[in-house]
Amino acid sequence: MQAVKTLGQFIIERQEDFPYAKGELSRLLRDIGIAAKIVNREVNKAGLVDILGAVGNTNVQGEEQKKLDVFANEQFIAALSSGGECCGIASEENEDIIKINNTVSKNAKYVVAMDPLDGSSNIDVNVSIGTIFSIYRRVSISGDCTMEDFMQKGTEQVAAGCITYGSSTMLMYTTGKGVNGFTLDPSIGEFCLSHSQMKTPDQGFIYSINEGNYVHFPEGVKKFIKYCQEEDNATKRPYSSRYIGSLVADFHRNLLKGGIFIYPTTAKSPQGKLRLLYECNPLAFLIEQAGGVASTGFKRILEVQPTDLHQREPIFIGSKNMVKLAEDFMAKYSPVTA
Ligand code: AHG
Ligand code: MN
Ligand code: MN
Repeated sequence: MQAVKTLGQFIIERQEDFPYAKGELSRLLRDIGIAAKIVNREVNKAGLVDILGAVGNTNVQGEEQKKLDVFANEQFIAALSSGGECCGIASEENEDIIKINNTVSKNAKYVVAMDPLDGSSNIDVNVSIGTIFSIYRRVSISGDCTMEDFMQKGTEQVAAGCITYGSSTMLMYTTGKGVNGFTLDPSIGEFCLSHSQMKTPDQGFIYSINEGNYVHFPEGVKKFIKYCQEEDNATKRPYSSRYIGSLVADFHRNLLKGGIFIYPTTAKSPQGKLRLLYECNPLAFLIEQAGGVASTGFKRILEVQPTDLHQREPIFIGSKNMVKLAEDFMAKYSPVTA
């Protein structure tokens, strides 16, 4: 029988994969893993909140039950603040950067950008949700972290990953040496290595996009969708359409099975909807490490220069051949004129 390998053991064994100071990044990843387990516990109870609330069990401090995205945000901030390896956080839930300058963190070398709870509209309906994180080495020399620490291109990420709270809870991460996935075994409370060196197929047969916005899509995206829907035996079309509405879950499925996820510009979201720092970049790093591609439709996501903490970008992400083809449709039918 093969011995189980936990996330903690794996991180220690693979320290040579980590650039710069090795132990520090390991500890940071470990802290994220612990916060993920706490969030997982609450996610699993989400459907019980009303029942527990009704019998008065949730309110030991007389506090209102927190919304899960606020709770997740607080858990990750607490874990990163007390872990001592992170000097600043950019979170979807906070307008400004959070500077961590307590005694344990004042010499910390890393900053983290995160979407603590992704797919929040799916919480109440028992559908998979997730967490996304991205880790950079600070560029400021010392003292409080600065905006510049976060305005680094995605190519500068030292690690990134995501957690899917789904039918199983799974964490995958990369430090630039491939992607490894760990499934939470609830009976022992540990993330166990379940998917080593994950690779996404070069060609997939799934397209994922909110087609309700069709009329507002750029022409290149409209034409690409029609291409996916056409019948053609040689290319196994029509492709399947799958869209959960939780980026992490859609991404996770497509990475395993092959496919393309698109959130383009629309009339309502002229810059796209998804956020560069804590949605697009970390998933772009993961997909590239799994052999896939992530693009704005015109250029590599990881090469976009951030100018704003909560900046949005259009994204085309997934299997290499599909993303390249979608880029061809964009170049042909929606060329950038500006
Ligand atoms: P969040 O819950 O962190 O705000 O993210 C929601 C995002 C993402 O998870 C998903 O892919 C997308 O919103 C869905 O948007 P539409 O409902 O516009 O399709
Ligand atoms: Mn999100
Ligand atoms: Mn979110």
